[in-house]
Amino acid sequence: MKVLVATDKPFAPVAITQIREVTEKGGHTLALLEKYKTTQELHAAAADADAMIVRSDIVDAALITAAPRLKIVVRAGAGYDNLDLQACTARNIVAMNTPGQNSNAVAELAFGLMIYNARGAFDGKTGTELMGKTLGLHAFGAVGKCMARIASGFGMKVFAYDPFVDKKSMSEAGVTAVDTVEDLYSSCQYISLHIPANDKTKNSIGEKLLSLMPIGAVVVNTARKEVINEAELVSLMEKRTDMKYLSDIATDNAELFASKFAGRYFFTPKKMGAQTEEANINSGVAAARQIVDFFATGNEKYRVNKPK
Ligand code: 3PG
Repeated sequence: MKVLVATDKPFAPVAITQIREVTEKGGHTLALLEKYKTTQELHAAAADADAMIVRSDIVDAALITAAPRLKIVVRAGAGYDNLDLQACTARNIVAMNTPGQNSNAVAELAFGLMIYNARGAFDGKTGTELMGKTLGLHAFGAVGKCMARIASGFGMKVFAYDPFVDKKSMSEAGVTAVDTVEDLYSSCQYISLHIPANDKTKNSIGEKLLSLMPIGAVVVNTARKEVINEAELVSLMEKRTDMKYLSDIATDNAELFASKFAGRYFFTPKKMGAQTEEANINSGVAAARQIVDFFATGNEKYRVNKPK
């Protein structure tokens, strides 16, 4: 079978070496398409692919039509909002993700953003410390758990809201579980978002929640920009001059932030939460193993779309 790694944002070379090893050991061939410029290029490369490994690359109905042999697509990462699950199901294609494989990298970036902000972008002036501050984790999945572990080293007081996770596992991780999302936002100076982007969560973080945050509020978004209601965030930051927004990828209103909120925001130039060698190896190799296993045994663990 032909396994195509199609990534606009390439994996580290060391990860590609290991992905190739796993794929070839499984009896398959590996093709590589990196930094493609157009969707046509992506579609052409997918024309004879039996399996695909992607990152945030768009897998939509058009790509699926262009890939008549495709049987499985694995998103090497956690969030699969870039996959059209219905289109995959309609063509009987198995869609998977690799949960947890890049979560430490994302959590480390979130702390990097918080430190950078607390120390005034390393400008040499007096900053603040994270120790003793309140951190609210909006969702307690794989990244949330890494956040809790790192936060305990910093001496932060950690709260979490996640209706899908039992409170016992939160307290075992040293985290105070709160009953409502409103409780989380009103209790914490720092809020870190770890929710997926889906129909329920898109635009869900707006003035209603953010305005509950105490003075000195810092919102850290290493999830997806789509979960923020940007218009409401902007209007709140105009009123709340204490509020800051740190995000792994620019908002749609980046120029407006630059003109209005200097020193109160930071955006990475490219989504880079999972962009470490370790995360590339973990998620890329996991994806390759899942594909090899799927072809060898039919194992559909980590499948995220419904069967036909
Ligand atoms: C994820 O959902 O796993 C992260 O956002 C990583 O995305 P990336 O593979 O595009 O860096």
